[in-house]
Amino acid sequence: MTLRLGVNIDHVATVRNARGTDYPDPVRAALIAAEAGADGITAHLREDRRHITDADIERLSAELPIPLNLEMAATEEMLAIALRHRPHAACIVPEKREERTTEGGVDAAGLHNRLAPLVRELAAAQIRVSLFIEPAPAQIEAAIRLGAPVVELHTGRYAELTGDAQAAELRRLGDAAALAAKSGIEVHAGHGLTVANVAPIAAIPQVLELNIGHALIADALFVGLGEAVRAMRAAMDAARG
Ligand code: PXP
Repeated sequence: MTLRLGVNIDHVATVRNARGTDYPDPVRAALIAAEAGADGITAHLREDRRHITDADIERLSAELPIPLNLEMAATEEMLAIALRHRPHAACIVPEKREERTTEGGVDAAGLHNRLAPLVRELAAAQIRVSLFIEPAPAQIEAAIRLGAPVVELHTGRYAELTGDAQAAELRRLGDAAALAAKSGIEVHAGHGLTVANVAPIAAIPQVLELNIGHALIADALFVGLGEAVRAMRAAMDAARG
């Protein structure tokens, strides 16, 4: 099966907000990414609105020619926003105000009672629910109990490790992907992926979508966003092929 690329545009908004201007425009970036072969756009509306804003979500919902994946914390505020905009997908992530980026996965096992109504309400609104989790059997089993149709496996640790430790983490990701897929859950992956480290993750056959942001926006500074997306696609396709 082909591997989809979701382009996370949060850091276009990070640059914009650093100067309080109305540029660079994340919606313009999303349209360029779509043109270059992105299969979807991901945006994380954080509680502190440090990058993507409510107005961005409104415009993305109205203007995107490809599916929007809204990353959101498991809160009533975010649930209401998701239900208002009805994105194609909603990925539930843990969120800590002081973190630089999403550290670790959501504890699907420990938070069952808080997540269950959220998953139910999003699914009832035809929004495809994904849980961003660590590649651990207990988390997959919890996702199954919650009835989540999709899990996104956190590849941050894989991206940071090297050598044998990285190989071990890659095995953990492969095992988690196999366990989830065997139970009928669609498997996505993301965090910390770059053109240089994406191949082993793209080669995991059960993984159907990668969500990538920081490295693409960084590469875009030097080669342009369209070229950065095309290079990532090529690296993913080569690994899959
Ligand atoms: N997937 C999820 C659930 C995320 O929270 C993030 C970061 O916002 C990403 C993917 C993309 O990670 P990166 O920016 O490191 O590529």
